[in-house]
Amino acid sequence: MSILVTGGAGFIGSNFVLDWLRQSDETVVNLDLLSYAGNLENLKSLDGDARHVFVQGDICDHALIDKLLAEHRPRALVHFAAESHVDRSISGPAAFMRTNVEGTFTLLEAARAYWTAMDDAAKAAFRFHHVSTDEVYGSLKPCDPPFAETNPYEPNSPYSASKAASDHLVRAWHHTYGLPVVTTNCSNNYGPYHFPEKLIPLMIVNALAAKPLPVYGDGQQIRDWLYVTDHCAAIRAVLAGGRLGETYNIGGWNEMANIDIVKTVCALLDEFRPDPAGPYARLITYVKDRPGHDRRYAIDARKIEQELGWRPAETFATGIRKTVQWYLDHPEWVSRVQSGAYRDWVKQQYAAP
Ligand code: NAD
Ligand code: TYD
Repeated sequence: MSILVTGGAGFIGSNFVLDWLRQSDETVVNLDLLSYAGNLENLKSLDGDARHVFVQGDICDHALIDKLLAEHRPRALVHFAAESHVDRSISGPAAFMRTNVEGTFTLLEAARAYWTAMDDAAKAAFRFHHVSTDEVYGSLKPCDPPFAETNPYEPNSPYSASKAASDHLVRAWHHTYGLPVVTTNCSNNYGPYHFPEKLIPLMIVNALAAKPLPVYGDGQQIRDWLYVTDHCAAIRAVLAGGRLGETYNIGGWNEMANIDIVKTVCALLDEFRPDPAGPYARLITYVKDRPGHDRRYAIDARKIEQELGWRPAETFATGIRKTVQWYLDHPEWVSRVQSGAYRDWVKQQYAAP
């Protein structure tokens, strides 16, 4: 038995692959383009492990996906591959439309042909699991209840619009063709192997380099943070027991303003690696806001808890300690990720307010 994972060299995908193979001997075929966000170093503990088959390739390559499905006969496809950074989607939306929309369409079509040709038992067991985001629901007002699965889609960024489009395609392939799909919409993740263009790892690596900690606008935007292995456990639960055609919201029950996240990271660094020059919070720098910046996301995760018994195992206090410690313990990973392409991006992004 095997599963086909897309985007398994990225942040969440690599955590998922590592987690999967810690708990199961079922082979993972990992299809990843190795874009700037894909990093095979995340998976180096699997070198020589026959249960992990890595294939560098594009989810828009229909012939390649047909070939992988025919060769490996996976019982499920877990789809992480995406362009995932909101700021990049603002400066260059085309890649988001291609990978997130056309890529998902290509996978759905390949999976449909593969699934249609199966015998009844294999057909009933097959799953297409689409990994998506809470950002498809738009932005909440301070007093709004958290996002439920029934909230209307109101995506505001090119990233969230492309993910919303992909969610709709997945829904339609189930409704029209009967493809056995499940979709999960998760809140902001954090943890090991997070590319340092995103808030938490960026703050850690900048603080350690005594660089400014860029906080967009007033820093009062709220996100609902979830430790990445809790997301992986939720995906496993939905893959195993989720109802076909359903969507499940996944979140940490942990709403926090960005400025409080940054201050927490600074306080942990003060504890673990005090800087003789003074507290890390001295580096906090307010910069120009992100255009169209969503003010608040929050997830109502009762459906997955009631139907599948999933709840996060980590609190923010435990998860963020582990995360900061992981970055302190892996300086080589950080320095290799900080390659030319990343530096160019940082220069372009953090102009004066
Ligand atoms: P990431 O950017 O770290 O990783 C994406 C991976 O996809 C990379 O390894 C990249 O090389 C690969 N990829 C990109 N284009 C590809 C293509 N055309 N073909 C094959 N592979 C390609 O992203 P992430 O943070 O790990 O997110 C994974 C998924 O989870 C995404 O679908 C994202 O929308 C979703 N998600 C992320 C978060 C979060 O907080 N990071 C929260 C909810 C949902
Ligand atoms: P990010 O990690 O990019 O995730 P998303 O935009 O998908 O929620 O950003 C998290 C929050 O942090 C978001 O409100 C934007 C903000 N932010 C900053 O204030 N400064 C930064 O340098 C970055 C990358 C993000």
